[in-house]
Amino acid sequence: ISLKNYNTFGIDIKAKNFISVNTVNDLEEVLKLQQYPEKFVLGGGSNVLLTKNVDALVIHINIKGIELISETNTHVLIKAKAGENWHEFVLWTLKQNYGGLENLSLIPGNVGTAPIQNIGAYGVELKDSFHECDVINIKTQDKHKFSLKECHFGYRDSIFKNKERGKYIITSVTFKLTKNNHHFNTSYGAIQERLNELGITNPTLKDISNAVISIRKSKLPDPKEIGNSGSFFKNPVISKNVFKDIVNQFPNAPHYILNDSEIKLPAGWLIEQCGYKGKRYGDAGVHEKQALVLVNYGNATGKEIIELAEKIQKSVKEKFNIHIEPEVNII
Ligand code: EPU
Repeated sequence: ISLKNYNTFGIDIKAKNFISVNTVNDLEEVLKLQQYPEKFVLGGGSNVLLTKNVDALVIHINIKGIELISETNTHVLIKAKAGENWHEFVLWTLKQNYGGLENLSLIPGNVGTAPIQNIGAYGVELKDSFHECDVINIKTQDKHKFSLKECHFGYRDSIFKNKERGKYIITSVTFKLTKNNHHFNTSYGAIQERLNELGITNPTLKDISNAVISIRKSKLPDPKEIGNSGSFFKNPVISKNVFKDIVNQFPNAPHYILNDSEIKLPAGWLIEQCGYKGKRYGDAGVHEKQALVLVNYGNATGKEIIELAEKIQKSVKEKFNIHIEPEVNII
């Protein structure tokens, strides 16, 4: 079958064997199938770039459900199964007036893959509301839990991208959300601007979510219209010394100070400076409003997207002597 509808980049790659599972029990049975030694797990398909036909058995995680685990006067623990669509889950939490995920509105993908790269946007990361997740070991089918601490979350990073890479499938994620005393994070300039424009001084969770949605819509392409995987690259972290050289040449370089010695630069800015914003090569391109996002205008192949990514990496290296690393998983 074609995986075109199962990856937000819209790459037309074929899978020889494909199965969609609706329960953890079914998943366990499928993982036991000996005739398919290799398995390839697909969640929302929002963070992969598929470059060649897949021989492995493709397991599409379609396990759904949201449940209240426990509550106190101030907080709730909510468990969402891995196959829930991320944004629909966020909207559900807002409807119950549970706080914590509002800044993460409209991020493509599913709940089960969100912890892998610790999704983040507009001053908030998944880790800020994460409680624990349930996993199943792909080889042994043992089930256990990873606590917040055990996940080793970092910027677009977790243990599932490092030490435990490829070992587990996350089957559900439990979040700790606020019931009242919500902590509104409007530190990201554009959110405050959007609220000011609307004359909102006492925002609700829904107001923050709406502000985020409108900012995202104004900058980021909707995968349903133009194939993409969000930010293609991570924002590079560089030393203060390297940054000094850049500021000499570009006094207005946008940047974000992390600590005494490190600075994070927006990769989108680096790419734009290299002249790629809005560029198109066949059906592969760089988004016209956010240079960090590579897009598929229709029939680009994974290989064409990679070639473009490599060209961009080379230019950024030549101009700034900075290596930018893909955020997307290249398969
Ligand atoms: N910029 C440019 N040109 C561009 C894009 C950005 O000059 O084409 C500069 C501007 O100065 C802008 C700054 O970069 O002010 C920051 O841009 P933006 O606010 O769009 O954020 P970002 O650093 O490019 C990160 C995340 C996004 C997240 C936003 C908002 C990464 C890799 N990306 O992008 O996450 O939505 O911040 O918090 O950290 C994603 O991971 O898929 C994603 C979209």
